[in-house]
Amino acid sequence: MPFQPKTAIEPFRIKSVEPLGITTLEQRHAALERAGLNPFQIRADEILIDLLTDSGTGAMSAAQWGAMMLGDESYAGSRSFYKFEAQVKKITGFRYVLPTHQGRSAEHILFSTLAQPGAVIPSNTHFDTTEANILLQGMDPVNLLIPEGRQPMLEHPFKGNLDVERLSGLIREVGRECIPVVMITITNNAGGGQPVSMANIRQVSQMCRQNGIPFFIDACRFAENAMFIKLREPGYADKTPLEIAQEIFSYADGCTMSAKKDGLGNIGGFLAMNDQVWAERCRNRMIPIEGFPTYGGLAGYDMEALAVGLEEVLDENYLRYRLKSTEYLGKKILDAGIPIIWPAGGHAIFVDAGALLPHIPWHQFPGTALSAYMYEQSGVRAMEIGSLLFAIKKADGTVTPPPFELMRLAIPRRMYTQAHMDYVAEAVAYCAEHKQEIRGVRFTYEAPVLRHFTARFEWADA
Ligand SMILES: Cc1ncc(COP(=O)(O)O)c(C=O)c1O
Repeated sequence: MPFQPKTAIEPFRIKSVEPLGITTLEQRHAALERAGLNPFQIRADEILIDLLTDSGTGAMSAAQWGAMMLGDESYAGSRSFYKFEAQVKKITGFRYVLPTHQGRSAEHILFSTLAQPGAVIPSNTHFDTTEANILLQGMDPVNLLIPEGRQPMLEHPFKGNLDVERLSGLIREVGRECIPVVMITITNNAGGGQPVSMANIRQVSQMCRQNGIPFFIDACRFAENAMFIKLREPGYADKTPLEIAQEIFSYADGCTMSAKKDGLGNIGGFLAMNDQVWAERCRNRMIPIEGFPTYGGLAGYDMEALAVGLEEVLDENYLRYRLKSTEYLGKKILDAGIPIIWPAGGHAIFVDAGALLPHIPWHQFPGTALSAYMYEQSGVRAMEIGSLLFAIKKADGTVTPPPFELMRLAIPRRMYTQAHMDYVAEAVAYCAEHKQEIRGVRFTYEAPVLRHFTARFEWADA
């Protein structure tokens, strides 16, 4: 019988290394106090393993670093832009491509261009920056995730799907003229990194077309989503990730993209679409805030790195490893009896902090409390995805918590090895064993928007 390894290895070798921030318990205690218990406020050199985000934190390849030397820094008509544009067009097929410095600026340009106060923007689940950009324009972000997506341990291949019945009901209720665009986030970051099926994308697209509503994709993790489709959806096993991605985008009118994720870049993003008039309006909007349309907030060398990254990310060996290695961490945590969102998402493992710490109410942020405790004990940094991010106060003063209180362990691309993940699993298990020691947190400072970035806390019973 031929050799059939059980170990899923990293499909790369390491060319240059960076030291980890090795600290003592006392140093971490002091760092946490200085940070007001907020992982975003801790200095990176005080972190051992950084799973705060998978955004812009990955390792670039030798080919990307090499391409950066070819960067054309011309203000207008940069050669690097045309390479970047060609790669985006090859994948998405969209006619107009506007580079931006990251995903949220693409969102800002999109939503400020179609601003229609009082309008409703449905999605499977909007991410926090998307939600903030919609609210800033006086519009209402509405999340229409399928019910299966709200049940942490329920086995379902596409827990990121949008509930098409509810979308249809919403269109009937508010009228198509009150919905300037429908979005789908692939994969669904706020809902556990869960994928969306091709069938669901197709159905949403059809419904939008029937109603004359543009359909956009938040495409941050399009390649991971394409690989999930290949592995799980009948009819796609023999297609390449590129072919699957091309089909996904063929159903949409445009997309926003943070290329800090599946662009394999440390910075960058884009807005792309088919409609010429709308693209012109977006371009005019972009010039005063991002820059001239052939660089839009990026250096020529960034666009070179992204053109290569967008090619590399669709490599099947890379994607197979990416999903397997995330699942590896998830299984280890699950085997320790700790509740997580399952099946594992593409880019992160989401620990169900609400279920693990039932003694901490949602308004004392179980996910933040767990992240702070885990950092102090182990040096591993994670972040909350729960009420801190998503329990938004409505105008009438009511606050509705989101369905989950999670701690997200986001895995930077091509950065950490299996031994690092073993350490992380041990750290999470230690927290679970000592859960009675973990207290809730309360604000000492709260910003009006995107409060999780700058909030400061104290332990709730301090
Ligand atoms: C689904 C999703 N959309 C949008 C964004 C915003 O991208 P950026 O951080 O590049 O502004 C993110 C970032 O984490 C995301 O995960």
